[in-house]
Amino acid sequence: MKTPVFVQLHHDSAEHIRQELILGLTANPQPGGATVNPKFLYDALGSRLFEAITELPEYYPTRTEAAIFAAHSQAMTRSVPPGATLIDLGAGNCGKAAGLFAMLAPSRYVAVDISVDFLRTTLAVLQRQYPAMDMVGVGLDFSQALDLPPEAGEPGTGPRLLFYPGSSIGNFTPTQALFFLRQVRAACGTVAGSGLLIGVDLVKDAAELEAAYDDALGVTAAFNRNLISNVNRLVGTDLRLADWAHHALFNRLESRIEMHLVAQRDLTVRWPGGQRAFSQGERIHTENSYKWTVAGFSQLLHEAGFAEPLVWTDAPSMDAGRFAVLWASA
Ligand code: AVJ
Repeated sequence: MKTPVFVQLHHDSAEHIRQELILGLTANPQPGGATVNPKFLYDALGSRLFEAITELPEYYPTRTEAAIFAAHSQAMTRSVPPGATLIDLGAGNCGKAAGLFAMLAPSRYVAVDISVDFLRTTLAVLQRQYPAMDMVGVGLDFSQALDLPPEAGEPGTGPRLLFYPGSSIGNFTPTQALFFLRQVRAACGTVAGSGLLIGVDLVKDAAELEAAYDDALGVTAAFNRNLISNVNRLVGTDLRLADWAHHALFNRLESRIEMHLVAQRDLTVRWPGGQRAFSQGERIHTENSYKWTVAGFSQLLHEAGFAEPLVWTDAPSMDAGRFAVLWASA
């Protein structure tokens, strides 16, 4: 049996994280307002709350994407090269990629996530199920730069399959998404058959989108508000849960769902070395989740240097779909 290899590339110091958060919290009131990067939603509890979100009746993306993979696995098998190095961007619990091992038949699995620690247990368990597969865990914040280490395999030696499911691309602005996709294109290397398999959430009715990000049970509200506890822990702020309410809205002009925390009264937030006043109704912007059309995302892939993609959705006509899975060969 092989053993997984682990590399931790990215290390943000506690002080660097504190500085980044304070910069966002003290940003000018209007028009941008205070912001916190959505990556701070995912502390231990936040990650579990996100898993709970994926089970909610209103949150269609996860199960819709899974249904698309299930319905079109034969067509995907025909398009995607077997024996590739499967590079899983934002692997988390590796469940989505592992579910595709039978269909994609990779020779090597590279799981990339911010923290390699989260990958250790999962990859050890997976390796027992797939003893002959090369497995590599990489700790890397690829939203900064997609610099894969040599342990991920030399790009020239075989096809590479970059996997970015779940519509995580939605956290990038269109400009950032283009920059990111160009790096993905470069990471595909030069071997024929290499490419990107990606899940993208599509533009739809505002009511359906807003329900998915403001569910009746209040799990998404808890997910958003949990950010308060995480920021308090990381910065030493005195934010109080009771003072902040969850708000989600579809900004059609920008084609994105926005999540905000809304101050419920006039208040002052204090931390070691600083403070900021918020008036009632003032917001902290915590997440953007961009929604694409199939045509718009295909154009973006084209601009990033990919070939015309193959597209699978949950509807017979592409644009009626709620979610799309695209295979773009490099
Ligand atoms: C993990 C970024 C894909 O945007 O739908 C879910 C995060 N935020 N509910 C998304 C999220 C609120 C999710 N992504």
